[in-house]
Amino acid sequence: MYFTSHIKRSKPVKMIFMIFILGVLALTVSDISFAGGATGLYHSYDNLPCGDCHSLHVSGNGGTEANYGHLLHKKDITDLCLSCHMKGNETPATADLPTVKDAGWVAPVVMTLDGVDPSGIAMPAGDFYWANTDPEKGHNPAYTKGGSATSRSMKADSVLGANPPGGSITEGGWSCISCHGIHDRFGSEISAWRQVLRKINGICVTGDVSGYGVETANSDCIQNQNYEPVKSNSRGDIQGIGYINARKDGNTLEGADLFADESDVNKNVYRGGFSSFCSACHGDFHGGNAETRNSSNNNTRAEDSWIRHPANIKMNETGSNYGISTYTAVVINKQGTNPNPAGYDWKYPLVQPDNSFMVKTRVSSAGDSSTAIGDSRIMCLTCHKAHATKYDNMTRWNTDSHSFIANGQTDFEGQVSNGDNLAYGCGKCHQKGGTKAYVKAF
Ligand code: HEC
Ligand code: HEC
Ligand code: HEC
Ligand code: HEC
Ligand code: HEC
Ligand code: HEC
Repeated sequence: MYFTSHIKRSKPVKMIFMIFILGVLALTVSDISFAGGATGLYHSYDNLPCGDCHSLHVSGNGGTEANYGHLLHKKDITDLCLSCHMKGNETPATADLPTVKDAGWVAPVVMTLDGVDPSGIAMPAGDFYWANTDPEKGHNPAYTKGGSATSRSMKADSVLGANPPGGSITEGGWSCISCHGIHDRFGSEISAWRQVLRKINGICVTGDVSGYGVETANSDCIQNQNYEPVKSNSRGDIQGIGYINARKDGNTLEGADLFADESDVNKNVYRGGFSSFCSACHGDFHGGNAETRNSSNNNTRAEDSWIRHPANIKMNETGSNYGISTYTAVVINKQGTNPNPAGYDWKYPLVQPDNSFMVKTRVSSAGDSSTAIGDSRIMCLTCHKAHATKYDNMTRWNTDSHSFIANGQTDFEGQVSNGDNLAYGCGKCHQKGGTKAYVKAF
């Protein structure tokens, strides 16, 4: 079972495997959780039992359940995921499922009931509560493959439906599993970053990453070189038949702990194709693998000028007026403080170079100027979160507001500003009024 999860299977073998698995399931549904497993493959082997999500014959629930596709407990895939990943549903006792076995787990929350960031929990991808409240504020993956929106817990986007601006979905469906894999923690189809799929919308976004200390390659995707792979690793690595709780190259894992508050010392470290990932569905908004200010790509740059904001450009691009030095601009204010960090700022994340490990998940970087690296790159997630935020277009900060925050005001991550700061929002990299935080009293 272990091997079949990460080596590529041909179709007939896969079918035989499936029949075998269903046979095993029928006999031992309640025995398929392996306590204390080393890999934390939580949607399968050593944590959640198959029966948490699958129902073999639908007989044990007093006839309250119907028979759904793939033998699942819910008709709608996003509803199934939110049965555990919505606030209030995150433990075995409270999951919105009929037959969860108590394995003592707590699921990471991706949707709250009130938009309030729960203390002691990190939600780096944002809060789906906002998309549900106002579809303009985020992704509304409410469509299971094969038709109209069926989700009860996620409202469909009444304007965009399942049509991504700047692209299209060619695979059908628009649900959590448009982006995430289900069973594996990582493997041939699932990347080592937050269980996101290697192939999204028919495009290999994360093919061969074996050269980057991440994990095994997907033979399906090795040929694809147009999309830069996601090279961060929040998962660990399989070595032979062993598992290590580190990157393949021995460096520490790069995902924020989801069961602690997000901060300078508990942050995601991004590496690789985080712009390519989004471009699998929003292709027109991205200039490709080697976006530069010196060549046209007709998506972001044409006739020697930007026509859309650059998204994969290095922060020390030759000839650029803006970059790592404006990112770390010293702000001169009347409080006599410099509220703009001299180092890498987790609130405006940048893709780190493949072989630079200066920015670390659990080590503070804000005060350390050596972590502000010229070869780092701006990306989609510098300005957006991946799920939803309280702002239109799921931006990190309110882009309909001023690029300025006054002394004592609370910023978009809930922290109080230590002095007037014009290196805020778009002003983080573009101080259009200079670096003196002068406020005119009208
Ligand atoms: C977290 C919920 C969840 C758990 C736990 C889970 N599954 Fe699934 N499974 C799904 C979903 C969702 C699908 C539907 C995939 C789709 O629509 O493409 C699926 C599909 C399948 C399929 C058919 C498609 C395929 O990928 O081959 C098989 C077989 C399967 N699961 C077996 C298992 C087994 C065996 C276990 C336990 C080791 C298990 N599942 C645990 C959610 C789950
Ligand atoms: C029965 C409950 C349950 C269901 C249903 C479920 N999950 Fe999970 N999920 C969990 C638990 C528990 C964890 C692991 C928490 C931990 O880190 O220990 C988890 C982890 C995850 C993670 C990894 C987060 C990380 O640390 O990187 C992702 C992504 C995820 N689930 C997505 C989904 C998606 C997509 C679905 C629907 C197909 C789904 N889950 C359905 C319980 C569930
Ligand atoms: C699997 C396809 C897919 C991927 C991958 C994807 N998106 Fe989207 N996106 C959509 C769809 C479909 C919509 C429109 C419907 C909706 O908002 O639910 C959308 C809408 C948006 C919107 C507008 C929100 C609104 O409702 O007005 C933004 C902003 C956005 N996406 C950003 C991103 C970013 C950033 C990423 C990468 C983290 C990304 N998308 C990855 C499919 C995708
Ligand atoms: C458009 C693609 C997309 C969709 C749709 C999507 N996710 Fe995610 N999800 C991501 C990405 C990308 C990340 C990593 C974000 C980051 O690192 O900043 C993520 C992160 C996560 C995490 C880790 C916690 C966090 O906040 O980073 C969990 C758990 C998760 N997703 C579950 C879900 C569930 C459940 C759904 C459906 C309700 C869902 N996702 C829908 C792309 C998506
Ligand atoms: C410098 C910040 C920034 C970066 C980088 C960025 N965006 Fe945006 N994005 C915005 C803002 C601000 C908006 C609001 C609408 C506007 O001004 O066009 C937006 C709007 C969007 C929309 C909604 C457009 C619509 O027509 O409804 C999508 C989709 C989107 N961005 C995807 C992406 C993707 C994909 C990337 C990476 C390739 C990306 N963005 C990079 C700031 C950014
Ligand atoms: C993390 C840093 C960063 C942030 C935040 C950022 N930008 Fe940029 N922006 C850049 C870089 C780098 C360039 C490329 C500059 C160049 O090529 O000269 C750029 C280019 C631009 C340009 C084109 C400049 C030109 O010379 O044609 C505009 C306009 C722009 N940004 C506006 C914005 C707006 C509006 C926001 C907020 C929604 C924003 N930027 C947020 C880094 C950033």
